[in-house]
Parts: sequence; C-alpha cells; structure tokens
Amino acid sequence: MEQNIARRARTIPSVYARQEFMTPGVEETLALLEQHCGVGPSTRILEVAFGKGEAACRLAMRHGCRVIGVDVHSAIEAIRQKTVDRRLDDRVSLVRGDGGWLPVREASIDGCLCTGGPSIGGGIERSMAEMHRVLKPDGWAVVSDWVWRKRPVPAAALPRWVTDDEPFTLLDEYAAAVRRAGFELILAQCLPSYVWEGYYGPMLQEMASWRTSGDPELEARFERSWDNEPRTFYEGLGREYWGYGVFIGRKVT
Ligand SMILES: C[S@@+](CC[C@H](N)C(=O)[O-])C[C@H]1O[C@@H](n2cnc3c(N)ncnc32)[C@H](O)[C@@H]1O
Repeated sequence: MEQNIARRARTIPSVYARQEFMTPGVEETLALLEQHCGVGPSTRILEVAFGKGEAACRLAMRHGCRVIGVDVHSAIEAIRQKTVDRRLDDRVSLVRGDGGWLPVREASIDGCLCTGGPSIGGGIERSMAEMHRVLKPDGWAVVSDWVWRKRPVPAAALPRWVTDDEPFTLLDEYAAAVRRAGFELILAQCLPSYVWEGYYGPMLQEMASWRTSGDPELEARFERSWDNEPRTFYEGLGREYWGYGVFIGRKVT
C-alpha cells in the first residue's frame, strides 16, 4: 500500500501558488458544514484529500475540534509546518494515505470532510464506503465535487482533460450514490456559480505572471494551463454546464 501511495504521489501543482484551496467553494462548503453538522471541541473530524490543509486548520481554529487529514501528495511536511506555525499541531494531524483505504479504525470518527476528492481518489462509491466505515453511527459526511448542471454535455463544455462526460454525474445521480453508501441525505445542492470565479481568480493571476515572464518554458506552461480548464469556463460553455455540488449525509446503516 505504501509503495502504491508513493507511486501516485504528486507535489501540489504550481498553478495553486496564490490560493489556499484547490477546489471551488470550500469556504461556502465549510459554512454549510457548520450550519448542518454539530462541531465543537470534542468533535473528531477526518478530512480526506486535505490539499493545502487550510480547511482542517480553519475548522480546528474556529471550533477547537480535532482534525485528522489524509492525502496522497508529497507536500505533507510543508503543510505540517503550517499547522505548527499556527500552533494548531496539537489539534490537526496529517498523514499520508489513500482515501480509498483510510488508515483509521472503524466507527471512530464523528464527521468526514472531502472537498473535491471523492471522484478523484478511488471514485465516489469507494470513497463514500470508506467514510461510512470510519464514521460512528449518526456521524456525518460533507462532500463537495464537480457535477454537470445538465446533460447531454456538448464538446464546448468539456474541459480539455476530459474526453467525454463520463468523469462526473448530475447532482441527483451523485446524491443517489451517497444514499447507496448508507447515508441519509441531509443536503444536496449546487454552490452559486461565482465559486468557480473565486477558484480561478488567483490561478489566473499566477498564470499571468508566467505569460509575461519572458521564459519560454513558463509561457508554454501558461498556454497548457489556460487550455486545460479556464478557457472552457470563460470562453466555452463551462459557466452553463459546470456545477459544484455539496452533499451532506448522516450515517444510518
Ligand atoms: C483538487 S485537490 C483538493 C484538495 C482540498 N480538498 C481542497 O479542496 O483544497 C485534490 C486532492 O486530492 C488528493 N488526492 C488525490 N487522490 C487521492 C487519493 N486516492 N487519496 C487521498 N487523496 C487524494 C490530491 O493530492 C489533492 O490534494
């Protein structure tokens, strides 16, 4: 398993240099979590795919809760240092692991959070089943992910890294998968579409610095990154077809 993780480990892409979150709408997702799930100093939260660790830090800071983060990436030491610098290392612990095989005992966690992760790490079914396994009875899971607002999805709405509409589902289909994993559905909604702009804003600033750097390698990186996704959002049909869904489930079986 350790070898598997090492093989898949990536550093955090440089396009995220100016932002703390690597998916749209994380602050909005945390607000929904705070509204619908009880969080306090005795709550034990597991964050799957913690990225830059910002959500884990904000939850620990605001509520005094304990957060265990699991991610496959190789920047874990840098993120750990961030928890030390903020004096949160007694509440936030980060481990290298796979969302499909969480390194945590069964029924030991009050709440799980996964922003942007389930469809990336192991697929929705596998990820939800693992969160379900580690949650205590009545425990909650808050998940956010890319969904299509409608189907069929035309080519002008597909980001470059996608060849057909396969990787994502509609909001309702995703909600059904959450239920099938043994959760009562508390909430399933698309975040306002401005969360995509909040997500791309700092990325575009970073990319603009590459474009004007005079370094051919960085300029080529700009072209690749712009083409990969933002071009479809701003110049194609991304705005119309892309949704960012938030799902909150309570473990019932
Ligand atoms: C799009 S980023 C989201 C990060 C963070 N949740 C956020 O919203 O800022 C996806 C994250 O999933 C992690 N990841 C990818 N595959 C994974 C897996 N199988 N298990 C755990 N984490 C995974 C990546 O390392 C990356 O940090």
